[in-house]
Amino acid sequence: MRHFIIAGVLVIAASFGIYFGLASVDMLPVQASTQAVGIDWMWDIQLMAMSFLFALIFVPMLYSLIVFRRRKGDTSDGEHFEGNNALEIGWTVIPLFVVVFFAYLGAGNLADTLRADPDAMVVKVTGFQWGWKFAYPEYGFESKELYLPVDQQIWLKMESNDVLHSFWVPEFRPKQDLVPGRVTELRVTPNLVGSYKVRCAELCGTSHAFMESPVIVVEEDDFVKWAIEQQALAAAANTPESQGELLVSTNGCVACHSINGTTGQGPTWLGLFGSDVELTDGSIVVADEAFITESIADPAAKVVKGFAPVMPLYPFTNEEIANIVAYIKTLK
Ligand code: CUA
Repeated sequence: MRHFIIAGVLVIAASFGIYFGLASVDMLPVQASTQAVGIDWMWDIQLMAMSFLFALIFVPMLYSLIVFRRRKGDTSDGEHFEGNNALEIGWTVIPLFVVVFFAYLGAGNLADTLRADPDAMVVKVTGFQWGWKFAYPEYGFESKELYLPVDQQIWLKMESNDVLHSFWVPEFRPKQDLVPGRVTELRVTPNLVGSYKVRCAELCGTSHAFMESPVIVVEEDDFVKWAIEQQALAAAANTPESQGELLVSTNGCVACHSINGTTGQGPTWLGLFGSDVELTDGSIVVADEAFITESIADPAAKVVKGFAPVMPLYPFTNEEIANIVAYIKTLK
Protein backbone atom coordinates (compact mmCIF):
# COMPACT_ATOMS: atom_id res chain seq x y z
CA MET A 1 0.00 0.00 0.00
CA ARG A 2 2.87 2.32 0.90
CA HIS A 3 4.25 1.90 -2.63
CA PHE A 4 0.89 2.78 -4.20
CA ILE A 5 0.68 5.99 -2.20
CA ILE A 6 4.22 7.06 -3.00
CA ALA A 7 3.86 6.20 -6.70
CA GLY A 8 0.46 7.94 -6.79
CA VAL A 9 1.87 11.15 -5.34
CA LEU A 10 4.78 11.01 -7.78
CA VAL A 11 2.37 10.51 -10.71
CA ILE A 12 0.39 13.60 -9.73
CA ALA A 13 3.53 15.67 -9.21
CA ALA A 14 5.00 14.51 -12.52
CA SER A 15 1.70 15.27 -14.34
CA PHE A 16 1.80 18.87 -13.16
CA GLY A 17 5.51 19.15 -13.94
CA ILE A 18 5.10 17.82 -17.48
CA TYR A 19 1.99 19.92 -18.15
CA PHE A 20 3.56 23.20 -17.00
CA GLY A 21 6.74 22.30 -18.84
CA LEU A 22 4.87 21.74 -22.11
CA ALA A 23 2.58 24.75 -21.62
CA SER A 24 5.58 27.04 -21.05
CA VAL A 25 6.95 26.24 -24.52
CA ASP A 26 4.29 28.53 -26.10
CA MET A 27 3.52 26.15 -28.93
CA LEU A 28 0.61 28.20 -30.27
CA PRO A 29 0.89 31.55 -32.04
CA VAL A 30 -1.09 34.53 -30.75
CA GLN A 31 -4.86 34.02 -30.51
CA ALA A 32 -6.51 36.32 -33.06
CA SER A 33 -10.04 35.04 -33.57
CA THR A 34 -12.99 34.13 -31.36
CA GLN A 35 -12.93 30.65 -32.91
CA ALA A 36 -9.43 30.21 -31.50
CA VAL A 37 -10.66 30.41 -27.90
CA GLY A 38 -12.50 27.08 -27.90
CA ILE A 39 -9.86 25.37 -30.02
CA ASP A 40 -7.09 26.46 -27.67
CA TRP A 41 -9.14 25.30 -24.68
CA MET A 42 -9.50 21.84 -26.25
CA TRP A 43 -5.80 21.80 -26.98
CA ASP A 44 -5.08 22.69 -23.38
CA ILE A 45 -7.16 19.90 -21.85
CA GLN A 46 -5.63 17.42 -24.26
CA LEU A 47 -2.22 18.58 -23.09
CA MET A 48 -3.36 17.88 -19.52
CA ALA A 49 -4.62 14.41 -20.46
CA MET A 50 -1.36 13.66 -22.28
CA SER A 51 0.74 14.81 -19.35
CA PHE A 52 -1.23 12.65 -16.92
CA LEU A 53 -1.13 9.54 -19.15
CA PHE A 54 2.58 9.94 -19.76
CA ALA A 55 3.20 10.23 -16.00
CA LEU A 56 0.85 7.32 -15.29
CA ILE A 57 2.96 5.01 -17.47
CA PHE A 58 6.48 6.26 -16.86
CA VAL A 59 6.45 7.05 -13.13
CA PRO A 60 5.34 3.55 -11.92
CA MET A 61 7.73 1.99 -14.44
CA LEU A 62 10.72 3.99 -13.22
CA TYR A 63 9.61 3.57 -9.60
CA SER A 64 9.52 -0.23 -10.04
CA LEU A 65 12.86 -0.28 -11.82
CA ILE A 66 14.50 1.49 -8.91
CA VAL A 67 12.62 0.29 -5.83
CA PHE A 68 12.13 -3.34 -6.88
CA ARG A 69 15.48 -3.84 -8.58
CA ARG A 70 17.37 -7.10 -7.90
CA ARG A 71 19.62 -6.80 -4.85
CA LYS A 72 23.12 -8.21 -4.79
CA GLY A 73 23.12 -11.94 -4.10
CA ASP A 74 19.35 -12.32 -4.68
CA THR A 75 18.93 -15.19 -7.16
CA SER A 76 15.29 -16.01 -6.41
CA ASP A 77 12.57 -15.90 -9.09
CA GLY A 78 9.76 -13.36 -9.12
CA GLU A 79 6.43 -14.29 -7.59
CA HIS A 80 4.05 -16.04 -9.99
CA PHE A 81 0.71 -14.41 -10.60
CA GLU A 82 -2.17 -14.79 -13.07
CA GLY A 83 -4.10 -11.98 -14.78
CA ASN A 84 -6.11 -9.35 -12.96
CA ASN A 85 -9.68 -9.07 -14.23
CA ALA A 86 -10.56 -5.92 -12.32
CA LEU A 87 -7.53 -4.16 -13.77
CA GLU A 88 -8.27 -5.35 -17.31
CA ILE A 89 -11.86 -4.18 -17.16
CA GLY A 90 -10.81 -0.90 -15.56
CA TRP A 91 -8.22 0.04 -18.17
CA THR A 92 -10.63 -0.80 -20.96
CA VAL A 93 -13.73 0.93 -19.65
CA ILE A 94 -12.17 4.11 -18.23
CA PRO A 95 -10.33 5.09 -21.45
CA LEU A 96 -13.53 4.34 -23.38
CA PHE A 97 -15.39 6.94 -21.29
CA VAL A 98 -12.51 9.38 -21.60
CA VAL A 99 -12.49 9.06 -25.41
CA VAL A 100 -16.29 9.44 -25.63
CA PHE A 101 -16.09 12.48 -23.33
CA PHE A 102 -13.46 14.08 -25.57
CA ALA A 103 -15.59 13.33 -28.64
CA TYR A 104 -18.49 15.10 -26.93
CA LEU A 105 -16.34 18.13 -26.13
CA GLY A 106 -14.92 18.11 -29.65
CA ALA A 107 -18.36 18.01 -31.28
CA GLY A 108 -19.55 20.96 -29.18
CA ASN A 109 -16.39 22.82 -30.01
CA LEU A 110 -16.76 22.15 -33.74
CA ALA A 111 -20.34 23.44 -33.63
CA ASP A 112 -19.07 26.65 -31.97
CA THR A 113 -16.36 27.07 -34.60
CA LEU A 114 -18.87 26.71 -37.45
CA ARG A 115 -21.59 28.87 -35.87
CA ALA A 116 -22.93 31.34 -38.44
CA ASP A 117 -23.53 35.01 -37.76
CA PRO A 118 -26.27 36.40 -40.06
CA ASP A 119 -24.34 39.69 -40.34
CA ALA A 120 -21.16 38.02 -41.55
CA MET A 121 -19.24 39.79 -44.33
CA VAL A 122 -18.66 37.61 -47.38
CA VAL A 123 -15.17 37.42 -48.89
CA LYS A 124 -14.62 35.23 -51.92
CA VAL A 125 -11.26 33.51 -51.81
CA THR A 126 -9.61 32.07 -54.90
CA GLY A 127 -6.57 29.86 -54.55
CA PHE A 128 -4.36 29.08 -57.52
CA GLN A 129 -0.86 27.91 -58.31
CA TRP A 130 0.56 29.86 -56.51
CA GLY A 131 -1.25 32.62 -54.82
CA TRP A 132 -4.45 33.97 -53.36
CA LYS A 133 -7.10 36.43 -54.56
CA PHE A 134 -9.77 37.97 -52.37
CA ALA A 135 -12.96 39.47 -53.77
CA TYR A 136 -15.29 41.68 -51.73
CA PRO A 137 -18.71 41.31 -53.36
CA GLU A 138 -20.29 43.94 -51.08
CA TYR A 139 -17.83 46.50 -52.40
CA GLY A 140 -17.15 45.13 -55.87
CA PHE A 141 -13.36 44.87 -56.01
CA GLU A 142 -10.58 42.32 -55.72
CA SER A 143 -7.49 42.43 -53.58
CA LYS A 144 -4.22 40.55 -53.21
CA GLU A 145 -4.31 41.13 -49.47
CA LEU A 146 -6.98 39.91 -47.11
CA TYR A 147 -8.06 43.05 -45.25
CA LEU A 148 -10.53 42.37 -42.47
CA PRO A 149 -12.41 44.47 -39.95
CA VAL A 150 -11.93 43.42 -36.34
CA ASP A 151 -14.81 41.87 -34.33
CA GLN A 152 -16.94 40.97 -37.33
CA GLN A 153 -17.56 37.47 -38.58
CA ILE A 154 -16.07 36.85 -42.02
CA TRP A 155 -17.69 34.25 -44.22
CA LEU A 156 -15.03 32.99 -46.60
CA LYS A 157 -16.33 31.30 -49.74
CA MET A 158 -13.40 29.56 -51.31
CA GLU A 159 -12.66 28.18 -54.75
CA SER A 160 -9.58 26.71 -56.37
CA ASN A 161 -8.61 27.38 -59.99
CA ASP A 162 -6.50 24.26 -60.34
CA VAL A 163 -5.54 21.80 -57.59
CA LEU A 164 -6.21 21.29 -53.88
CA HIS A 165 -5.06 24.13 -51.64
CA SER A 166 -5.75 24.81 -47.99
CA PHE A 167 -6.54 28.14 -46.36
CA TRP A 168 -4.79 28.53 -43.02
CA VAL A 169 -4.08 31.53 -40.88
CA PRO A 170 -2.42 29.95 -37.83
CA GLU A 171 -3.39 32.88 -35.58
CA PHE A 172 -7.07 32.26 -36.43
CA ARG A 173 -6.64 28.46 -35.93
CA PRO A 174 -9.30 26.85 -38.23
CA LYS A 175 -8.17 25.51 -41.57
CA GLN A 176 -10.16 24.63 -44.68
CA ASP A 177 -9.28 22.97 -47.97
CA LEU A 178 -10.05 24.54 -51.34
CA VAL A 179 -11.34 21.91 -53.75
CA PRO A 180 -11.50 22.43 -57.53
CA GLY A 181 -15.09 22.49 -58.78
CA ARG A 182 -16.60 23.19 -55.36
CA VAL A 183 -17.13 26.09 -53.01
CA THR A 184 -15.89 25.40 -49.50
CA GLU A 185 -16.60 27.71 -46.60
CA LEU A 186 -14.88 28.92 -43.49
CA ARG A 187 -16.02 31.39 -40.84
CA VAL A 188 -13.63 33.42 -38.75
CA THR A 189 -14.17 36.35 -36.44
CA PRO A 190 -10.86 38.19 -36.06
CA ASN A 191 -10.65 39.79 -32.63
CA LEU A 192 -7.14 41.17 -32.56
CA VAL A 193 -5.85 43.98 -34.77
CA GLY A 194 -2.60 42.97 -36.43
CA SER A 195 -0.79 41.59 -39.47
CA TYR A 196 -0.84 37.89 -40.13
CA LYS A 197 -0.33 35.62 -43.11
CA VAL A 198 -2.51 33.11 -44.87
CA ARG A 199 -0.45 30.17 -45.94
CA CYS A 200 -1.38 27.21 -48.08
CA ALA A 201 -1.43 24.08 -45.94
CA GLU A 202 -1.80 21.51 -48.71
CA LEU A 203 1.13 20.46 -50.89
CA CYS A 204 0.12 21.90 -54.28
CA GLY A 205 3.22 21.93 -56.46
CA THR A 206 6.71 23.34 -56.68
CA SER A 207 5.94 26.78 -55.23
CA HIS A 208 3.60 25.56 -52.48
CA ALA A 209 5.96 26.93 -49.83
CA PHE A 210 5.63 30.46 -51.25
CA MET A 211 1.85 30.48 -51.46
CA GLU A 212 1.37 33.17 -48.82
CA SER A 213 -0.56 36.43 -48.68
CA PRO A 214 -0.83 39.16 -46.07
CA VAL A 215 -3.84 39.13 -43.77
CA ILE A 216 -4.42 42.51 -42.16
CA VAL A 217 -6.96 42.96 -39.38
CA VAL A 218 -7.87 46.60 -38.78
CA GLU A 219 -10.47 48.65 -36.93
CA GLU A 220 -13.86 48.88 -38.64
CA ASP A 221 -13.31 52.57 -39.64
CA ASP A 222 -9.94 51.80 -41.21
CA PHE A 223 -11.45 48.90 -43.08
CA VAL A 224 -14.20 51.05 -44.60
CA LYS A 225 -11.60 53.67 -45.57
CA TRP A 226 -9.47 51.01 -47.24
CA ALA A 227 -12.47 49.49 -49.03
CA ILE A 228 -13.52 52.88 -50.47
CA GLU A 229 -9.94 53.46 -51.66
CA GLN A 230 -9.86 50.06 -53.33
CA GLN A 231 -13.21 50.74 -54.96
CA ALA A 232 -11.85 53.97 -56.44
CA LEU A 233 -8.71 52.21 -57.67
CA ALA A 234 -10.78 49.45 -59.25
CA ALA A 235 -12.98 52.04 -60.99
CA ALA A 236 -9.92 53.90 -62.31
CA ALA A 237 -8.47 50.69 -63.70
CA ASN A 238 -11.71 49.94 -65.46
CA THR A 239 -11.11 52.13 -68.56
CA PRO A 240 -11.53 50.78 -72.13
CA GLU A 241 -7.75 51.13 -72.62
CA SER A 242 -6.85 49.05 -69.58
CA GLN A 243 -9.50 46.48 -70.46
CA GLY A 244 -8.02 46.25 -73.96
CA GLU A 245 -4.52 45.83 -72.56
CA LEU A 246 -5.75 43.00 -70.37
CA LEU A 247 -7.46 41.33 -73.34
CA VAL A 248 -4.40 41.35 -75.58
CA SER A 249 -2.19 39.94 -72.87
CA THR A 250 -4.60 37.22 -71.79
CA ASN A 251 -5.35 36.18 -75.39
CA GLY A 252 -1.72 36.03 -76.47
CA CYS A 253 -2.03 38.76 -79.15
CA VAL A 254 1.28 40.26 -78.08
CA ALA A 255 3.09 37.05 -79.03
CA CYS A 256 2.86 38.17 -82.69
CA HIS A 257 2.15 41.92 -82.42
CA SER A 258 4.90 43.73 -80.58
CA ILE A 259 4.27 46.99 -78.78
CA ASN A 260 7.87 48.22 -79.07
CA GLY A 261 8.28 48.49 -82.85
CA THR A 262 9.91 45.12 -83.52
CA THR A 263 8.42 43.03 -86.31
CA GLY A 264 7.03 39.66 -85.36
CA GLN A 265 4.61 37.34 -87.13
CA GLY A 266 2.28 40.32 -87.36
CA PRO A 267 2.76 44.10 -87.69
CA THR A 268 3.85 45.97 -84.58
CA TRP A 269 1.24 48.09 -82.84
CA LEU A 270 3.65 50.83 -81.94
CA GLY A 271 2.67 53.90 -83.94
CA LEU A 272 0.19 51.85 -85.96
CA PHE A 273 -2.88 53.96 -85.33
CA GLY A 274 -3.31 56.65 -87.96
CA SER A 275 -0.38 55.44 -90.07
CA ASP A 276 -0.52 54.41 -93.73
CA VAL A 277 -0.15 50.69 -94.35
CA GLU A 278 0.40 48.90 -97.62
CA LEU A 279 -1.67 45.80 -98.23
CA THR A 280 -0.70 42.64 -100.13
CA ASP A 281 -2.60 43.92 -103.21
CA GLY A 282 -0.42 47.04 -103.27
CA SER A 283 -3.14 49.44 -102.12
CA ILE A 284 -2.53 51.85 -99.26
CA VAL A 285 -5.01 52.31 -96.41
CA VAL A 286 -5.01 54.38 -93.24
CA ALA A 287 -4.92 52.30 -90.04
CA ASP A 288 -7.94 53.96 -88.47
CA GLU A 289 -10.56 52.57 -86.12
CA ALA A 290 -12.51 50.93 -88.95
CA PHE A 291 -9.42 49.22 -90.40
CA ILE A 292 -8.15 47.86 -87.05
CA THR A 293 -11.65 46.75 -86.05
CA GLU A 294 -12.03 44.89 -89.36
CA SER A 295 -8.58 43.32 -89.01
CA ILE A 296 -9.53 41.86 -85.63
CA ALA A 297 -13.06 40.78 -86.59
CA ASP A 298 -12.03 39.38 -90.01
CA PRO A 299 -8.24 38.95 -90.11
CA ALA A 300 -8.15 37.71 -93.70
CA ALA A 301 -10.10 40.66 -95.20
CA LYS A 302 -7.08 42.97 -95.62
CA VAL A 303 -3.61 41.57 -95.07
CA VAL A 304 -0.67 43.90 -94.61
CA LYS A 305 2.11 43.46 -97.15
CA GLY A 306 4.99 41.33 -95.93
CA PHE A 307 2.88 39.19 -93.60
CA ALA A 308 1.23 35.81 -94.14
CA PRO A 309 -2.54 35.57 -93.52
CA VAL A 310 -2.05 33.39 -90.43
CA MET A 311 -3.90 35.34 -87.78
CA PRO A 312 -6.61 33.22 -86.19
CA LEU A 313 -10.13 34.49 -85.64
CA TYR A 314 -10.72 35.33 -81.98
CA PRO A 315 -14.28 35.26 -80.62
CA PHE A 316 -14.14 38.82 -79.24
CA THR A 317 -17.35 40.77 -78.70
CA ASN A 318 -17.76 44.17 -80.38
CA GLU A 319 -17.14 45.85 -77.04
CA GLU A 320 -13.94 43.89 -76.51
CA ILE A 321 -12.72 44.83 -79.98
CA ALA A 322 -13.47 48.50 -79.25
CA ASN A 323 -11.41 48.20 -76.04
CA ILE A 324 -8.49 46.65 -77.92
CA VAL A 325 -8.63 49.42 -80.52
CA ALA A 326 -8.67 51.98 -77.70
CA TYR A 327 -5.56 50.34 -76.28
CA ILE A 328 -3.75 50.26 -79.65
CA LYS A 329 -4.49 54.00 -80.02
CA THR A 330 -2.40 54.65 -76.91
CA LEU A 331 0.69 53.00 -78.41
CA LYS A 332 2.38 55.95 -80.04
CU1 CUA B 1 -1.53 25.86 -52.59
CU2 CUA B 1 0.00 24.55 -51.37
